[in-house]
Amino acid sequence: MIQTLEITRPDDWHVHVRDDNMLEQVIGFTAKQFGRAIIMPNLLPPIITSKQAKSYKKRILKACGDEYDFTPLMTAYLTETTNAQDLEFGYNQGIFTAAKLYPAGATTNSDAGVRDIANIYHLFESMQKIGMPLLLHGEVTDSEIDIFDREAVFIERVLSKIIQNFPELKIVLEHITTKQAVEFIADAPDNLAATITPHHLHINRNAIFAGGIRPHMYCLPIAKRQEHKLALRRAAVSGSDKFFLGTDSAPHSKSAKQSACGCAGIFCAPFAIESYVQVFDEENALDRFEAFASLNGPKFYGLKPNEKKIKLIRKSQTIPEKINCGDIGELIPFHAGEKLDWSLAEV
Ligand code: NCD
Ligand code: ZN
Repeated sequence: MIQTLEITRPDDWHVHVRDDNMLEQVIGFTAKQFGRAIIMPNLLPPIITSKQAKSYKKRILKACGDEYDFTPLMTAYLTETTNAQDLEFGYNQGIFTAAKLYPAGATTNSDAGVRDIANIYHLFESMQKIGMPLLLHGEVTDSEIDIFDREAVFIERVLSKIIQNFPELKIVLEHITTKQAVEFIADAPDNLAATITPHHLHINRNAIFAGGIRPHMYCLPIAKRQEHKLALRRAAVSGSDKFFLGTDSAPHSKSAKQSACGCAGIFCAPFAIESYVQVFDEENALDRFEAFASLNGPKFYGLKPNEKKIKLIRKSQTIPEKINCGDIGELIPFHAGEKLDWSLAEV
């Protein structure tokens, strides 16, 4: 039985680190494990311009301090009034790594998002030309479409249209949750890829209702049936370079989660790498873990893998029920109170 695993330092290709006090409390969890992370721009107000991204990046680095070797990769929040010149400028200057499309109303802080994608085709045109990746929150928002079907319908109605019109555009379908998404990405050309979260590899939709309503298991896209979870696990361990790590860690205060209208988001950053490696271990695929966690992402983004390494040890640990985060109170981590078989060691 493998007892230790040394891999290239991984990256997180989708994370919410928020701003202000929350940023200060959560950034260390990401920075201690990951060399780089794609930072989601859904702040209030969102990060739309290159100027906003530059200053948000500074705030992240400041909150991070000197303790970690961590690079935030910034994204632009696309709106129907986004300035194409600024988007191109931001990408060409290395301020933006990618741009994020939130369909308006799809998830937390998406109100400024896009109502009709036809209105941003000129932005896709520029992005295709300069090679700037489009990151998709892949859910339709039509209230008549069942919440569990919104990803599959997005692929059918929206994604296929984008691809038809922009065949060379680099696209990441983020935090995929369905077998339809797995199949679509697996069959698509090389300019399409997908990220998978730790929680969608561990839970199915029963977890949201186990013995009562479980707000800390609620995120968007929502967890689906077991057959979808199994499809995601197969994709992650398949060895295909189209699937890579993106935690979608989305911290919300305990009171924002445990409320009559609780926010969507699972705070999985604190034990993310241990959570993922557990899945690869259970699937007898530890030999494929490094590619998923550390190599496929940089390859897609045209970046070099990190030079540093991390070491994981087969040493079980019990995940705390809560994490005390100073003035923002307690945050409830994914796997709270559960045991994981692996621990991250310093290298
Ligand atoms: C995210 C958040 O809280 O910002 N929530 C979530 O459930 N994943 C937004 C998102 O990525 O959909
Ligand atoms: Zn997200």
